[in-house]
Amino acid sequence: MSDNSIFRRKSINNVLQQSEDSHGGGLVKILGVRDLTSFGIAAIIGAGIFSTIGRASYEGGPAVSLLFVFVSIACIFTALCYAQFASMVPVSGSAYTYAYVSFGEIFAWIIGWALILEYAVSNMVVAISWSEYFVGMLHGFGINFPDYLTIDYGTAHKAFLESQAGATKLTDSTLFAAKAYEHAPVLGSIKLLIDLPAGVITMLVTSLVYVGMKESRSASNFLVVLKLVVILLVISVGAFYVKPENWSPFAPNGAQGVLGGVASVFFAFIGFDSISTTAEECKNPQRDLPRAMIYCLVICAVLYVCITLVLTGMVNYTELKVDDPLAYVFQKINFDFMAGIISVSAVVAITSALLVYQMGQPRIWMAMSRDGLLWKRFSKIHPKFKTPSFATIVTGFVVAVPSLFLDMGFFVDLTSVGTFFAFILVCAGVLYLDYQGLSKDAKFKIPYLNGQFIVGPLLVVAIAFVIYNNTFFSELEAKPLLAFFWLVWAILSVLAYLHKFSILPVLGILTNLYLMTELGITNWTIFLIWLAIGLVIYFIYGYKNSKLAK
Ligand code: ALA
Repeated sequence: MSDNSIFRRKSINNVLQQSEDSHGGGLVKILGVRDLTSFGIAAIIGAGIFSTIGRASYEGGPAVSLLFVFVSIACIFTALCYAQFASMVPVSGSAYTYAYVSFGEIFAWIIGWALILEYAVSNMVVAISWSEYFVGMLHGFGINFPDYLTIDYGTAHKAFLESQAGATKLTDSTLFAAKAYEHAPVLGSIKLLIDLPAGVITMLVTSLVYVGMKESRSASNFLVVLKLVVILLVISVGAFYVKPENWSPFAPNGAQGVLGGVASVFFAFIGFDSISTTAEECKNPQRDLPRAMIYCLVICAVLYVCITLVLTGMVNYTELKVDDPLAYVFQKINFDFMAGIISVSAVVAITSALLVYQMGQPRIWMAMSRDGLLWKRFSKIHPKFKTPSFATIVTGFVVAVPSLFLDMGFFVDLTSVGTFFAFILVCAGVLYLDYQGLSKDAKFKIPYLNGQFIVGPLLVVAIAFVIYNNTFFSELEAKPLLAFFWLVWAILSVLAYLHKFSILPVLGILTNLYLMTELGITNWTIFLIWLAIGLVIYFIYGYKNSKLAK
């Protein structure tokens, strides 16, 4: 590959050497499989299960538990691919570095840019959700913040308009937001509303990440135990209050209702991959990262399915359109003590998710900067704390400032679309390295099952099934993106036939792509605009300054 090509690739040896060389003032290797599993759980269980699951259950009914199963299967395929990469290229860049060694620089940049959505933008959601629970908890203790300091302008304004329109059944949170809008001080003609707790917690957590991995690890391990205790408590106590009649009808709004929750459910799973960004701080990354990724994903998948069944069994699904569903179901059965415990621990639990993403984002920037695609300062390691100091500070501001002002719904979709994209490229990267014969020495290899005579025939069966059900064309009309899905499947069928592709990464690509098509054209468009901005930055800076260009 010529040095001027945007597809110039790094060799695996080159990546490993570079990370060795940078160890002069390097990171400390202290993480073991338990710490990594704990970081994984810390990242996965957060705003998703404590907040957005409520709306997904409201739309899809109890059958959302099946969506959790389906999404977790897609994530397990992906986690296996991440695990293989992490065992081959145990450096901090995660999917960014994996793309660099498989598809070349431009793809690496695109992934790195998309990962900002997964880490920084998702953390805005997590910070905002933290703030909601925090304000609710303080309220429970009789402490009330000025309401206009706890909410963003968009949410408050929308709620105000709804209340003015004379809607009869307004939820408590809508009434709260509308009041905040009315009370807000005015500057000129603008109402001043900000979500102060979201910004403050982000900066506090960032300071912890700045100060050191050891401190972050201890905090994370402690917070995860607490988080698991709460989730297990909700499941085990809630199980006694389940009324099986609430599970019927199981899918009241049909498949479409269930699939409407894809973004929220997927959001709840995001994070298992983030532990690969700590590869250079692991004692034995090639052995421990693959294990930890699978462990944390399986643990969370089981907990999520149980929790969805309990929530939708305790109350009718139509009541779950709330931001704090776990606490709400217990209030509903007049078990206020339990609801209180959940509110307090949600605050703690969500903090640990914030911590992991604040840790992941700077490490990806660090990897990009080492390659010359970002300014040098992003890879500067603090001499005393041994953390990527400048990148950590930037992450703090990048997350804290928007979370002061913006609404979370939009960010959930944007995060999901970007993360699906990254996952698909990681699965494809594994196929590519296998095809090139480069993964022979991987310490962890995805179990190989020859897809040569499976991928194509499966496509025929799937198409026959939708045609038989008379839904092929109607679905295509409703979701034009499905055409892209069928096309990719057809291409993969040919390639799998020609090159004996391993079936699991292929299934990873297909399941993630299918879920991605559910997110709708608007989200794809916004995502494409995001990518376009990224490409402009790449051509202005990264292309010229890339180490490979020199
Ligand atoms: N999975 C993470 C959460 O639910 C993003 O907060």
